[in-house]
Amino acid sequence: MNIRENIPISTLTTMRLGGNARYVIELKNPTDVPTAFSFIFTKNLPFYILGSGSNVIGRDEGFPGIILINNLKGIEIISQTDKSLILKGYGGENFDDFIAYGVNLGYSGMEALSAIPGTLGAAPIQNVGAYGQEMSQVLTNVEAYDSRTGRISTIATPQMHLGYRRSIFNHGVNAGKYFIVSVTVKLTKTHLTPPFYTSLQSYVDTNHVTDFSPKSIRKMVVAIRAAKLPDPAAAASAGSFFKNVYLNSAEAKKATAKGIPVWDGGKVPSGWLIEHAGLKGKEFFGFKVSDKAALILINEHAKTYADLEKARSAIQKAVFDKFGLNLEQEPVEISL
Ligand code: EPU
Repeated sequence: MNIRENIPISTLTTMRLGGNARYVIELKNPTDVPTAFSFIFTKNLPFYILGSGSNVIGRDEGFPGIILINNLKGIEIISQTDKSLILKGYGGENFDDFIAYGVNLGYSGMEALSAIPGTLGAAPIQNVGAYGQEMSQVLTNVEAYDSRTGRISTIATPQMHLGYRRSIFNHGVNAGKYFIVSVTVKLTKTHLTPPFYTSLQSYVDTNHVTDFSPKSIRKMVVAIRAAKLPDPAAAASAGSFFKNVYLNSAEAKKATAKGIPVWDGGKVPSGWLIEHAGLKGKEFFGFKVSDKAALILINEHAKTYADLEKARSAIQKAVFDKFGLNLEQEPVEISL
């Protein structure tokens, strides 16, 4: 366990913003978890748990407490049959390495989540989903340290109340209280079958793909993401910067009448709204709306959260003025 002082949050997060954190502790072993929390209690400071910082934004005032970085590594097979694989990984394991492990053994369930940046421990927190698959479909349980009781317990999926980008770990009284030690999923020896999620289906059609094995789906998703989403190592961003908009049936009717696409009875792709408000490729206060995928905001040369606020407001206003819909930020912020 390594404790550092006065570390810029901009160096810990892929959007590369944020002032100093008072302390940063990197945890590498499950035994580091209680040790780190004793340090927190001794110092009597607030704490914030971070994975690889790919969906988290720092503010200019920094964080006057302790940031814990979950770097617990390891993948274990719990059971394997011709039908299913139960796979456990530690919270700081790279999410995509964990997916590759299951895919290479020929099991399905997470292949469409390939190439999403971040750690495995963060995946249940916001119920990561892409191209028609979602953590909720494969997750069996997590082992988590409850900072209030000082104990590690097993939490089963139904207890997590998973929804669109939400769970008990990021909403309500339990938000931010659990440190995810490990994540267990159940994968199966099946194949995804068409029709696929729109952008995956168009890739399949264009490239005349007929192999829908987990390996093949993974390969396609990696190619789709590489073409559209910036590599965090090359361009500073936090992935999708806005959530898609969910409408009730009355709102959906109105939106459809205005020519706005509404999927599955209520989902409006925010990327479409931003693109059709004419913002694709436009720059705001040092941030650029990606010219490949309008939902992605790239930090070109901004240094402050204050500039991000201005850019966010400008985009929200343009979309509201044109379509009467409110965009909500997707990445979370480190704050007290
Ligand atoms: N669209 C446009 N213009 C754009 C981008 C999108 O018109 O510039 C429209 C298109 O109609 C497209 C639709 O939006 O068909 C959906 O776009 P896409 O399939 O690229 O997905 P998304 O809604 O932009 C969501 C997730 C992504 C995830 C993809 C794939 C959210 C906030 N984002 O994006 O997750 O990879 O679906 O399933 O739900 C992330 O959260 O950081 C993230 C990248």
